[in-house]
Amino acid sequence: MRIRQHVNPLRSDFFAIFLEPLTLPADRPVEVELGSAEAQFLMERAAEEPGRSYVGVEIRRELVEQSNRRCQQSGLAQVRSVFANISVDLPRILPPASVSRFFVNFPDPWWKQRQRKRRVVSEELIDQLARLLRPGGEIHVATDIFDIALDAMAALEDENPRRFHNLREPWCFLAQSRFAARSRRERHCEELGIKIWRLAYRLTWEP
Ligand SMILES: C[S@@+](CC[C@H](N)C(=O)[O-])C[C@H]1O[C@@H](n2cnc3c(N)ncnc32)[C@H](O)[C@@H]1O
Repeated sequence: MRIRQHVNPLRSDFFAIFLEPLTLPADRPVEVELGSAEAQFLMERAAEEPGRSYVGVEIRRELVEQSNRRCQQSGLAQVRSVFANISVDLPRILPPASVSRFFVNFPDPWWKQRQRKRRVVSEELIDQLARLLRPGGEIHVATDIFDIALDAMAALEDENPRRFHNLREPWCFLAQSRFAARSRRERHCEELGIKIWRLAYRLTWEP
């Protein structure tokens, strides 16, 4: 099957995606990857910590269908991908205070084109994620593009009111990943020796 390399999330037909709120288990932590592609990272997370639920949000429908088939065949019932647009759909699919961790792994630079071309982790997105995270929930970002990493860090550190605590130190990147799981792009970068910028924050504030 031919899989498109990119889609434009601002295309009008993506605003018509039919979505229902996900039913998430109340008794186990839920981790969500934004832009999950073939869900390699989430499948590896499920192998690492099987007692959790994993949701991938992805705008390329073919990849969503393909990864859901693969998870079903592999008996990974706790991993599922959802066809949705991160820029508009998150509050429609995820209940408030339901997510333990968000992962933003190697984001495309244009998720928030209308705001600032390369800013992916924008103030709007942080506001949404703060509402969707459980108390003490985390946001993890990894990218090989320094400008994106710096923009994400600035958005998370400059918050007013301040809701997130840097898991290392203020204005510091993580030295290494805290997880054994690797996304496809992450593994590719590691194999080629490409520098990966990693940052992680914990929600410390409750509205
Ligand atoms: C560079 S790939 C990284 C994929 C994977 N996270 C990894 O690290 O290998 C970025 C992914 O985000 C998806 N994406 C881009 N914009 C999106 C949006 N607005 N909503 C949902 N997914 C989006 C792309 O289709 C693509 O699969």
